[in-house]
Amino acid sequence: MAGIVWLLLLGFSSLPTLSGEEDFVPPQYNISLDLPPDQRWEPVLKQYNSIYLRDTLEYLLKKFIPNWIRLFASPLAKFHLTFFVTEPYASELWSISRILDISVGDVFLINLFYELTVYCTSIIAQDDQGNIYHGRNFDHYLYTILRHLTVDLHFIRNGEIAYTGTTYIGYVGLWTGQSPHKFTVSGNTRGEHSGKWWENLYSAYLKSGTAVGWLIRDTLNDAKDFQSAAIKLTYTPIIAEAYLIIAGTKPNEGLAITRNRDGPALVWSLNPLLGEWFRVETNYDHWTAPPLHDDRSTPASIALNKTGQANVNLDSLFKVLSVRPVLNFITVHTTVMSAAFPEKYATTIRNTIPKLWWRKPGAK
Ligand SMILES: *[C@@H]1O[C@H](CO)[C@@H](O)[C@H](O)[C@H]1NC(C)=O
Ligand SMILES: *[C@@H]1O[C@H](CO)[C@@H](O)[C@H](O)[C@H]1NC(C)=O
Repeated sequence: MAGIVWLLLLGFSSLPTLSGEEDFVPPQYNISLDLPPDQRWEPVLKQYNSIYLRDTLEYLLKKFIPNWIRLFASPLAKFHLTFFVTEPYASELWSISRILDISVGDVFLINLFYELTVYCTSIIAQDDQGNIYHGRNFDHYLYTILRHLTVDLHFIRNGEIAYTGTTYIGYVGLWTGQSPHKFTVSGNTRGEHSGKWWENLYSAYLKSGTAVGWLIRDTLNDAKDFQSAAIKLTYTPIIAEAYLIIAGTKPNEGLAITRNRDGPALVWSLNPLLGEWFRVETNYDHWTAPPLHDDRSTPASIALNKTGQANVNLDSLFKVLSVRPVLNFITVHTTVMSAAFPEKYATTIRNTIPKLWWRKPGAK
């Protein structure tokens, strides 16, 4: 029986996660914002074997973009990058292309690819003392690859941490981040786009707007406080619908923003006075019932209710994010953060295979 399960698993996905890896903490690097954009990624990329990175990114492209799409999309992406993409992203993408020796169109496509494929759970909560906590699981069906490309980055300006974020080598946007003593942000894609994501993306892209991962990074970089960050995240046009979840440092500072491309669909705030001390956002509008095959918000809410407002903190939030199926087969990482305590920002790469299942062959 165990053998059959094992064989099924072998068939199910490629090998890396099946080696029985436990959870682990990803590498952390500094990115200097004082260096010009075309130089700042080099020290991080140099930490990786460039052949491995090139092969991995090539594999991603091959697997998820049909060749005929890539043939015309890659030159188009290069054109777009040259004329329309703003700094620092254009220079950063060009430099990644140069360092890894991958065409810049392909680097850009990889960066666009994430826009519609981020399946996640984000939670904000306020304890009974008024402290605000924020946690997220990042789910992606490329988890076998992404768990080895995930990094925590400190973006340094004038010797100080300007903001922190979690991302993948080769991707210059952020879907999870923290501006110390100001706010934390996470993003989830809205709705199911797992099919022909490039079609949505191209139609969206040509209509202009910024990529969600870039908006989050821009907000972390620019916004002076929770309120201005919330305004920027609510109103800046984006290329794909998303949920943007933001938490601050003071009581009641927590919003889950449901975004259309050109503005807000609905802004859902924490409301502790009415007993609504947490918000859970997955990939569905919270005012509709999630599909039965993918209901992560109910189990998360039940776990939060069980935890209780008095006991919520970063550790208990991590436990909530470890309840199945909130933690599921494709969870890449869990990050917990609280802008008032920036040093507690913590990312964990998750072992996505249930322990019973990844017993090594031959084990009893
Ligand atoms: C990253 O930058 C911070 C702030 O300047 C510094 O304290 C830390 O030592 C740096 N870490 C590395 C690995 O260089
Ligand atoms: C959690 O508790 C609140 C308040 O008692 C209740 O309204 C809500 O339905 C509970 N959620 C779940 C999923 O049980």
